[in-house]
Amino acid sequence: MFLLALTALRGDTSAPPINIIPKPNIVVAGSGAFRVDAGTRIAVSGETEGLGYLLESMLRPGTGFPLDVTRRGGRNAVNLRLDRGLTKLGPEGYVLDVRPNGVEIRASAQAGLFYGIQSFRQLLPYQTFRQSATPGLVTEVPCVHIEDMPRFTWRGAMLDVSRHFMPKSFLLKFVDLLALHKMNTFHIHFTDDQGWRIQIKKYPLLTEVGAWHKANKLTDDPTTLNSKPDGGYYTQDDLRELVAYAGARFITIVPEIEMPGHSAAAIASYTTLGNTGKPSRVPGVNEGSPNVLNTSERTIQVYQEILTEVMEIFPSKFIHIGGDEVDKGPWHNNPEVQTQMKDLGLKNEDGLQSWFVGQMDKFLTAHGRRLVGWDEILEGGLAQGATVMSWRGINGGIAAAKANHDVVMAPGEFTYLDHYQSTDHTSEPVAIGGYLPLSRIYGYEPIPASLTPEEARHVLGGQCQLWTEYIPNPRHVEYMAFPRICAMAEVDWSQKDQRSYIDFMSRLRPHLERLQALDVNYRPIDGPVMQAVGTWKSGEMKETFGVHSWPLPNKIDGPGDYKVTFSYTEGACRLDIAWAELVQGDAVLARDEHPGRTGGDTVDNVYALRVRQTPVAGKPCVLRASVRTDGGTDSTGEISFTKQ
Ligand code: ACM
Repeated sequence: MFLLALTALRGDTSAPPINIIPKPNIVVAGSGAFRVDAGTRIAVSGETEGLGYLLESMLRPGTGFPLDVTRRGGRNAVNLRLDRGLTKLGPEGYVLDVRPNGVEIRASAQAGLFYGIQSFRQLLPYQTFRQSATPGLVTEVPCVHIEDMPRFTWRGAMLDVSRHFMPKSFLLKFVDLLALHKMNTFHIHFTDDQGWRIQIKKYPLLTEVGAWHKANKLTDDPTTLNSKPDGGYYTQDDLRELVAYAGARFITIVPEIEMPGHSAAAIASYTTLGNTGKPSRVPGVNEGSPNVLNTSERTIQVYQEILTEVMEIFPSKFIHIGGDEVDKGPWHNNPEVQTQMKDLGLKNEDGLQSWFVGQMDKFLTAHGRRLVGWDEILEGGLAQGATVMSWRGINGGIAAAKANHDVVMAPGEFTYLDHYQSTDHTSEPVAIGGYLPLSRIYGYEPIPASLTPEEARHVLGGQCQLWTEYIPNPRHVEYMAFPRICAMAEVDWSQKDQRSYIDFMSRLRPHLERLQALDVNYRPIDGPVMQAVGTWKSGEMKETFGVHSWPLPNKIDGPGDYKVTFSYTEGACRLDIAWAELVQGDAVLARDEHPGRTGGDTVDNVYALRVRQTPVAGKPCVLRASVRTDGGTDSTGEISFTKQ
């Protein structure tokens, strides 16, 4: 009886549970809750006003409240306060106190306040992350005291926009998602063989020619087979907008201009940058093309002029120059390069690569910046000021740290998000290979065990990478990135002794509801579950097209990407499909119209259905399709349904 009464009491007063990702250092739950309603104020000072308006803009769509941003503190307010007494938590640390009569977020610097705001948002119900308000939503925040600061200063994610161009709108969304996870570094791989994606005013052909390649022969993923000429680029104005947007969210954009390898797009634009003097074209994904720059004075000058424009756009201290996978054969076969090598007194091509990187290092250092490159820049000797990004395992990082250079840990086997998320490849979109499940990235420890504490100070942090050879569009990026970025965020932010995979998973499940509300196409924890939704049987269909329906009990639980697959199993006749759609009552939630068939040659038998709105709860959804059988009616098969 007594226990029951207690439970009932707690039921009355308890607020939503605390599920913050990445896990804060100290969380002390209080009792009771603070209620955010239309009368709640955001109390700011002159210095914190900008953050106040940012918080207001984050909460407005999901709550519908136009919260007042004001200098007046006191009760029923979320107070944002700079507190120089908190310098012990560093510029990114914060203290968050939620009490029944008010919220206080304190930090010694703006960045810390921003991260306090992110934790505060994650205390609110997931519906507040939606783009439209939920009527009747109770917006209560549990009382709690949180003290928090990050473990590493470089908490990064890299996106390759060369292999597949991603629209600016997606880069902005990605920045928001990184910020939600308290990541602070967005490394963008702007140039590679398959495309040059950044406008350079002095060298316009880099984008006029270099941003485009012919149809990409990518994968056997049916959604990518009909590729058109692929490409695109960002203007300098686009990038300034991105830099400002990211800066307001305490994210540094680290631009990568790849050199001297992976430069086919640049060489296709300006033949004189290459080693053969012969014209070439921008290759498609997985195609070859001459891709190594020559090392002449003129090429170095061109690249330094490019870096000058890059530095004008990006305030980042670090500028990435690539440096990986340089095929040194073209240098060996280029007499001018060989003469230059001898004149410089260099022993071999490794020495030449090191010299080339050294030219860029000196140039960037002279402009107050720092060079970062993939770990191949160690070969032939590391340039003086260089920072190493260790991707071929951890040894490059160890060698650099022992030589007193800073490092960012990005080892392929733990941080490459283009790798498969399951060993069952039949249920996953085609990927480049590898296997990086969530548990493995969560368990990654960025500080190699062989470093002394002194050397370990050179490890700036960890970074995950999204190479896009097999990732053709933003929805697919999201599928590969989430929830693995949630795990990486915790690797980079949370203290080592705070990390527990079981605990992480218990917080991740409710966190995925936030991602869903933000329209993120994350991979479900249990994978893209294929469910049979119906069949067709011999004699049921006609030889002329007609519309048929199959009920979909409880299979559409919110916005998302669904796939419907028609699979012939037996009979003398194939099935032709004209279109498929998801319907609720009179509303068509999603539709895909294209000719498909299954049986004999199976062609385009998958229908991609993107649902943008949340279906009305409790009202049945139906799959509808126009189909016919060919040469008779003896056809049997089944229809399956997958949420991506
Ligand atoms: C790389 O993956 N080539 C850095």
